[in-house]
Amino acid sequence: MAAEGPAARRVQVAEHPRLLKLKDMFYSKFGSMPKFYARAPGRVNIIGEHIDYCGYSVLPMAVEQDMLIAVEPVQTHTLQLANTNPLYPDFSTSANNIDIDKTKPLWHNYFLCGFKGIQEHFGLNKLTGMNCLVDGNIPPGSGLSSSSALVCCAGLVTLTVLGQKLSKVELAEICAKSERYIGTEGGGMDQSISFLAEEGTAKLIEFSPLRATDVKLPSGAVFVIANSCVEMNKAATSHFNIRVMECRLAAKLLAKYKGLQWDKVLRLEEVQASLGIGLEEMLLVTEDALHSEPYSPKEICRCLGISMEELRTQILSPNTQDVLTFKLYQRAKHVYSEAARVYQFKKICEEVPDNMVQLLGDLMNQSHTSCRDLYECSCPELDQLVDICRKFGAQGSRLTGAGWGGCTVSIVPAEKLPSFLANVQEAYYQRSSPREAPEKQNLFATKPGGGALVFLEA
Ligand code: GLA
Repeated sequence: MAAEGPAARRVQVAEHPRLLKLKDMFYSKFGSMPKFYARAPGRVNIIGEHIDYCGYSVLPMAVEQDMLIAVEPVQTHTLQLANTNPLYPDFSTSANNIDIDKTKPLWHNYFLCGFKGIQEHFGLNKLTGMNCLVDGNIPPGSGLSSSSALVCCAGLVTLTVLGQKLSKVELAEICAKSERYIGTEGGGMDQSISFLAEEGTAKLIEFSPLRATDVKLPSGAVFVIANSCVEMNKAATSHFNIRVMECRLAAKLLAKYKGLQWDKVLRLEEVQASLGIGLEEMLLVTEDALHSEPYSPKEICRCLGISMEELRTQILSPNTQDVLTFKLYQRAKHVYSEAARVYQFKKICEEVPDNMVQLLGDLMNQSHTSCRDLYECSCPELDQLVDICRKFGAQGSRLTGAGWGGCTVSIVPAEKLPSFLANVQEAYYQRSSPREAPEKQNLFATKPGGGALVFLEA
């Protein structure tokens, strides 16, 4: 199973309205027919936020919304990209010299990340060009991972054009790494679930080595996504990378405190693994080793015995070198407690106790509180939406994805779904201005969808 690549499926394009529309638009744009199509889904993370880049397991599922690309390989070594959404302008470049501008998170750069990642993996330099038309229906900046879906879809497209084979795990790892060309230091959750998802099941995603295990969600409950309508682009601000760096620094200080070889340590999980202790004990170590007042760069240098120059150039990312304070205690507390909640969530799903939905809901609520208070990645609109969702019947509700905007995910008993949807619609989208008219895609029930695929015309 692990060695299997993404499936290729034969389809009658005429029977699939979205493919048919894409095929027609492709013809109007490029004057030729696409040779194949690829899709990669977005995801909703049920629990385990901001811990993948610390080495801890997460529990997402793929959503039905995806990136779909129609592709025609060409002989010219030119890569031509177009998007069905007129907000995203056409782009064209030589396929041999891919330059990704980190200063602006332009849409085509996400495609280039996947394209470049696959090319580099095979060490190719004379590359085939292609014409691609991209159609996405994952709301951007909503925490449902539209950007990683585009990176993954582009990676799959490039692999298919090259006629090469890779397993889903290899593709996920390459795409996770290559998305960092954009400048954000993300973990591997989004790319892993985009490739490894299977219809009908959420997945526990573990790292080093990467693997995905089925997690059967409760049959009596529905997971509902609600968009706060606050757009968050994690590549456009330094919020995300600051958190990654705070976790990295916390890991180094904890390792130093425990007499480990701290300079090699990058992730909080490595400290736990080296000490061979449980997550509860890691929380106690955190209490002993770190203080709750923010650390200045100077204090960090003093603790680690390094110079300011070493801190900036050897530890921090380019966009976090001027940060004045780092909260290490709060971030480490969030990570170790959230990591424990993921395992508890999985255990409850396996044991199926009578009050399962309530127990899972409690964990999701605790996760939100931790994200809001310790990790500080929520925002007033997300907090308000979570409260509204709980008020109208959710057993648990939390922000999902990077946060600072985007969506919430709620666990709702199946029989309460119709009234829940109607009431949340009214309370968040209609009553409070200045939110725009409620759109279907702002509030919807979701179930675990399948992973990335290639479609060939039958
Ligand atoms: C983004 C990143 C992921 C993960 C989440 C937060 O989606 O791409 O790797 O860190 O944020 O859980």
